[in-house]
Amino acid sequence: MQTAIDQIDDRIYRISTFVPDAAPGGFTFNQFLIDAEEPLLYHTGMRGLFPAVRAAIEQVLPVARLRWIAFAHLEADECGAMNEFLEAAPHAQVAHGELGCVVSLNDQCARPPRPLSDGEVLDIGGASLARRMTEITTPHVPHNWESHMFFEQDSGTLFCGDLLSQVGNGPAVTGDDLLDEAIAAEELFHQTSLGPAVPATYRRLAGLGPRRLAIMHGSSYDGDCPALLRAMADVYEQRFGCGGQNTAAQPLPGQDAAAQPLPGHAGAAGSGPGSAGESR
Ligand SMILES: [Fe+2]
Ligand SMILES: [Fe+2]
Repeated sequence: MQTAIDQIDDRIYRISTFVPDAAPGGFTFNQFLIDAEEPLLYHTGMRGLFPAVRAAIEQVLPVARLRWIAFAHLEADECGAMNEFLEAAPHAQVAHGELGCVVSLNDQCARPPRPLSDGEVLDIGGASLARRMTEITTPHVPHNWESHMFFEQDSGTLFCGDLLSQVGNGPAVTGDDLLDEAIAAEELFHQTSLGPAVPATYRRLAGLGPRRLAIMHGSSYDGDCPALLRAMADVYEQRFGCGGQNTAAQPLPGQDAAAQPLPGHAGAAGSGPGSAGESR
């Protein structure tokens, strides 16, 4: 195994470990480090990867400076080393959607997590470089009730976890169309909870207008991100039998399907069902 680190945007780094026997053709496990005034690590990797991920972070900043630990959902590759990082970074706190905190993280974290509501902004930037992480709840997409993502507004980066996973060991960032590779990985792993909310959630994410997709397994994507997300939504409808155009994204407890648009994204949301603000 080898762990690489690449800068994919101004002070945003992709840490990637290629595990040859994790899948036919091998599989990468990626973390993302945002070197902001309050540095944030998105995904910790499994506990077994902790020494390698820690060493990669140390190439950019002392791991003790980490302020935020975040991840898409509770699985070992996303957050297995959560408490190891909390111990190594005494000022760090886990940030996750409210549901994940209530269901699991209030119990599982060595220190209390910071709960975020859908659309809430976690401002981690400094004077010279604004970095603002918008909380996007994505229950059951691609899997797990507590699933969520971050959209960093200034770089246009959507930290989309397991979405659009690919096998193999491609470049850190690609502009190549990932649709066929993502379909192949879905057919190999069957990782997505194929419920009716999947296409609507993909379209809601497309409505944010991301300019880059920071993908957990495989290359990150610099290209027409909304088009790729909408194409994958169509694939889930037409090939995998998920819900139709009028199915709303999965609501959270206490929310109805007519929730308010995300702050700052009403204009970018588009007008179709499942666009931002209409789909929960
Ligand atoms: Fe996962
Ligand atoms: Fe994953």
